[in-house]
Amino acid sequence: MRLDKSAILCIIFLGSLATLTSCRPDDEQDNEEVTEISALPASIVYPSDNPYSNAKFELGQLLFWDPVLSGTNEVACATCHHPSLGYSDGRALSSGVNGQGLGPNRTGGVVVKRNSPTVINTAYNGISVSGTVNPMASPMFWDNRASSLEEQALLPMLSAEEMRGVAIAESDILDTLVNRLLAIAEYRNLFEAAFGSDEITETRIAQALANFQREIVANNSPFDRYMRGNMNAMTNAQVQGMNTFIESGCADCHGGPMFSDYELHTLSTPNHPQVEDEGATGNFDFRTPTLRNLAFTEPYMHNGVFDDLEEVLEFYRDISGGNANSQNPDVANNQIDQDARDLRVNGDDMDEIIVFLNALNDPDFDTSIPSSVPSGLPVGGEIN
Ligand code: HEC
Ligand code: HEC
Repeated sequence: MRLDKSAILCIIFLGSLATLTSCRPDDEQDNEEVTEISALPASIVYPSDNPYSNAKFELGQLLFWDPVLSGTNEVACATCHHPSLGYSDGRALSSGVNGQGLGPNRTGGVVVKRNSPTVINTAYNGISVSGTVNPMASPMFWDNRASSLEEQALLPMLSAEEMRGVAIAESDILDTLVNRLLAIAEYRNLFEAAFGSDEITETRIAQALANFQREIVANNSPFDRYMRGNMNAMTNAQVQGMNTFIESGCADCHGGPMFSDYELHTLSTPNHPQVEDEGATGNFDFRTPTLRNLAFTEPYMHNGVFDDLEEVLEFYRDISGGNANSQNPDVANNQIDQDARDLRVNGDDMDEIIVFLNALNDPDFDTSIPSSVPSGLPVGGEIN
């Protein structure tokens, strides 16, 4: 049921956390779920067995930038998660070992089957509508296959396409990397400062990387400031767009402070011409991504098939309403998630929603780059 544009939105203040709910008069009748969007909390939650420390942060940052963690000594985490590209890589599909150059200019690398998501705000992955974060139940990846930053951190090192290459077997790579770090005196000192002894283990590597990434946050967008009470932080057009976003049904999946339910959904995103990716369970299902900071992270979707937000909105128009046409030959119309088919997006709505999405950008995240890394290898890998 399409609500009138003038529908009243309720702002509920729960302590310092403002929550926006659409007050749908039809809610009782059709039991439609209540959609809520809200500001991010200012604080970051750390796991009890991996509390924050400056020393761990500094170690994690150096590890993030050091290609010593790749089998080939030429790919770092930052190769695909670079601050100048919103901690993503600006490519449809990421490019790992044997490549040269950064982001869209990278050539020669082995192509990974998915788009690189940003690591900005991954500290909040899995956040509930009410703002609760459990850092050990924090879904990671387009298919949610890891459940914390700690669990995620070692997986790129194991991946032949991303960081391992083929010369070192998967069963040997982590031992090889630990031994490499042990051979570098500066790393032994950094691990000692971070963990109280110079023992270097896979677990400690993962904990330091997670500690660093948890600090890469951008939680002060115009939307956040508006929701915390600064009514001038968003323009009238952005407020209008926010209403349209909710009324159109976007928040049914893109709800909560991160604009994601962290659930898997089948939409019928077109296949990328180069890869076959059936998603998390073989149903072309992928995790709802955050809608924060989209200005820094194009192209969009798990395989980067859409270059801009106009294309994304046209896609939603085509799979919803009377059109409900699958955009993927491997997905039948009736396989498309009901919440997507129920969307109401047409004409002006699309422009209004895009205006609102621009209120979710916060460029004020840590973009610092270390001047050197302990291995002496090029900072960030072969990206220049
Ligand atoms: C070759 C490019 C590449 C490299 C190198 C790389 N990543 Fe990624 N990263 C990706 C891609 C692609 C995905 C999505 C993969 C998927 O969903 O299956 C991803 C996903 C992630 C995520 C999940 C974000 C989310 O919201 O789900 C995190 C966190 C992350 N990477 C951190 C790291 C860290 C830490 C390193 C270094 C140890 C690293 N990445 C190295 C390309 C890369
Ligand atoms: C049924 C749940 C659902 C609904 C409803 C929904 N989305 Fe999505 N959205 C997703 C999923 C899942 C993806 C990832 C799909 C993929 O990668 O193939 C996505 C991807 C996106 C992306 C790309 C983000 C990125 O970083 O790549 C944007 C932008 C987006 N949606 C905006 C919207 C807007 C605007 C609406 C309302 C018109 C909307 N979505 C409605 C689930 C939904």
